[in-house]
Amino acid sequence: MRKDKGQIINEIMVQFTSLAENVALSRVLTSSVVTHWDITISQLEDLKVAVSEAVSNAIIHGYENQKDGMVSMRFLCYETYLLIEIKDEGIGIENIQQAMEANFSSDKQRMGLGFSFMKMFTDELEVTSEVGKGTTVLLGKKMPAVKGKE
Ligand SMILES: Nc1ncnc2c1ncn2[C@@H]1O[C@H](COP(=O)(O)OP(=O)(O)OP(=O)(O)O)[C@@H](O)[C@H]1O
Ligand SMILES: [Mg+2]
Repeated sequence: MRKDKGQIINEIMVQFTSLAENVALSRVLTSSVVTHWDITISQLEDLKVAVSEAVSNAIIHGYENQKDGMVSMRFLCYETYLLIEIKDEGIGIENIQQAMEANFSSDKQRMGLGFSFMKMFTDELEVTSEVGKGTTVLLGKKMPAVKGKE
């Protein structure tokens, strides 16, 4: 995944507790990081949806809504690319391929669309997971060249 993106120009790491209200925090963090680039409001909205889905999954599924887990977010900023890593140390995913299928959910009450939104609203999506150890979701999104720079 990380090939040919050039040099990392900024790296930001944040950790927060697995509280539902921190989904909103993850959206605000994403908005702040993205101010570096001149992206449209709708592109930013898309990215925030993808991030919220990954962070909600970490809290709801990874930590099964327990409030004592830690979720970490890492932003890797390249000249024209943004990678966002969302990581939990929760229960992990047994079958990643099945989990990523549209409409699959381990919870009957849910739609099973989180991964579909992540795929739809990013340019790259990579999921790694180990049962009992946790899950890492990597979201990649192309960014426009910053004005005044070549
Ligand atoms: N971080 C995670 N840790 C453990 N299991 C996960 C994690 N993320 C996703 N899963 C598993 O993958 C399934 C599919 O996730 P997805 O986000 O697509 O749907 P959902 O969360 O079930 O429903 P929705 O996102 O529509 O509310 C989940 O039901 C869950 O079983
Ligand atoms: Mg989900």
